[in-house]
Amino acid sequence: MESDRIRETFLRFFAERGHRRVPSSSLIPPPESGLLLTNAGMNQFIPYFLGQAQPPSPRATSVQKCFRANDIENVGHTARHLTFFEMLGNFSFGDYFKADAAKLAFELITEGYGIDGDLLWVTVYETDDEAADIWADLVGIPRERAVRRGKDDNYWWTHAAGPAGPSSEIFVDRGARYGPDGGPAVDEERFMEIWNLVFMQEEVDAEANVVRPLPAKNIDTGAGLERVAVVLQGVDNAFETDGLRSLLEVAESLSGSRHGEDERRDVSLKVMAEHGRATSMLIADGVQPSNEGRGYVLRRMLRRVATHAQRLGVERPVMVPLVERTVELMGGAYPELVENRDYVLQVASSEEERFRGTLRQGLVLFEEAASRAGGTLMSGDDAFALHDTHGLNVELIEELAEDRGLSVDLHRFEELMAEQRRRAKESVHKGAVSGDVVDEVAARVGRTEFVGYERLEQDTAIGGLVV
Ligand code: SER
Repeated sequence: MESDRIRETFLRFFAERGHRRVPSSSLIPPPESGLLLTNAGMNQFIPYFLGQAQPPSPRATSVQKCFRANDIENVGHTARHLTFFEMLGNFSFGDYFKADAAKLAFELITEGYGIDGDLLWVTVYETDDEAADIWADLVGIPRERAVRRGKDDNYWWTHAAGPAGPSSEIFVDRGARYGPDGGPAVDEERFMEIWNLVFMQEEVDAEANVVRPLPAKNIDTGAGLERVAVVLQGVDNAFETDGLRSLLEVAESLSGSRHGEDERRDVSLKVMAEHGRATSMLIADGVQPSNEGRGYVLRRMLRRVATHAQRLGVERPVMVPLVERTVELMGGAYPELVENRDYVLQVASSEEERFRGTLRQGLVLFEEAASRAGGTLMSGDDAFALHDTHGLNVELIEELAEDRGLSVDLHRFEELMAEQRRRAKESVHKGAVSGDVVDEVAARVGRTEFVGYERLEQDTAIGGLVV
């Protein structure tokens, strides 16, 4: 079953059962969420769970664009890590609770997606007897295929203050080819998690301490589209599902490499495919490359794409074909991609072009440093200069060094990084001294009144300049 049909089957199943179809919200979350980027389907519904707003309907279903930035450096090195992914979800705002959530999930998995119910395992929160009984008595998953787990695994919150609750996850047994028997406690490659049901019942602070019970008992579920696709398409991992496979093909044709032939080149192909898609989605939602916050996440990823393309020896720009393929694949589900296509192309390719200039220079210097290394160890000082002055990140320096059979003196590199951080702190401190200068100038030229709330333009005179 192709991704488009997996999405549509999910949405239709829940729409037919009284859920309102809600479009994905932007990857840029509302400021009050406390999140850098949208990380779950429930983000846009937080005010409903907290009782701060009334939902237009007590049930909703969506396919949400999600981004989890903590794994960027791992992408490419494993088949498992993705930054951008899609989350299929159904939600109840004070309407149905655990029993119906479990029954609905089982029905869709077995009847809608045609997965054999005997292959399913579940986990429940360690004290949640109610959920354990529901799976066994109402749904019919034998108790020996239900595993109890603690807070780290089976309690969900956004990792910012907000709604939270115990969860119950559903796993599919992919067969002996993927690992030993024994359920998710033994092997999560073989027993792959596809769906998380969260019983949203309390509000927590940013450390997950319970603040109060929520005004109602709610359901928040999330099934990773890419994982469902792995199971339904009978492939090994997300990069072999229809969407990412098609992006890998773009990377293959740009580089003339085939995925699966050389492990090291595979890393670069995967980075290009995954980051090519993720950055297109970020830019379409209005994220711009910058040196902080989500703009920095985007910039780092675009740079990773450019450096990995370079590593594969690709001389021409790669972002244009990667964006174009992403728009073809995802534009049906997310029309904003089609609407903003030209803008996404322009932002992605101009950032790529600028960075390629820096990178080319950096690589010339890398070669010089590599020849100084005398065949074994690249000095930490050289690595630091490449990083600090020429913008090559240390991961890339290590990878390039490895290509030449060299290792990098990371101990010295870290020392120099620490020194640099110390210097940066000192200069911030000095900034406080120049704050006095600002006060002096302010005292001399008088108070500057802020008029931005009333007027958009204002003629004024510069009274002083502190450099
Ligand atoms: N919010 C939960 C998750 O992200 C379920 O949707 O896993």
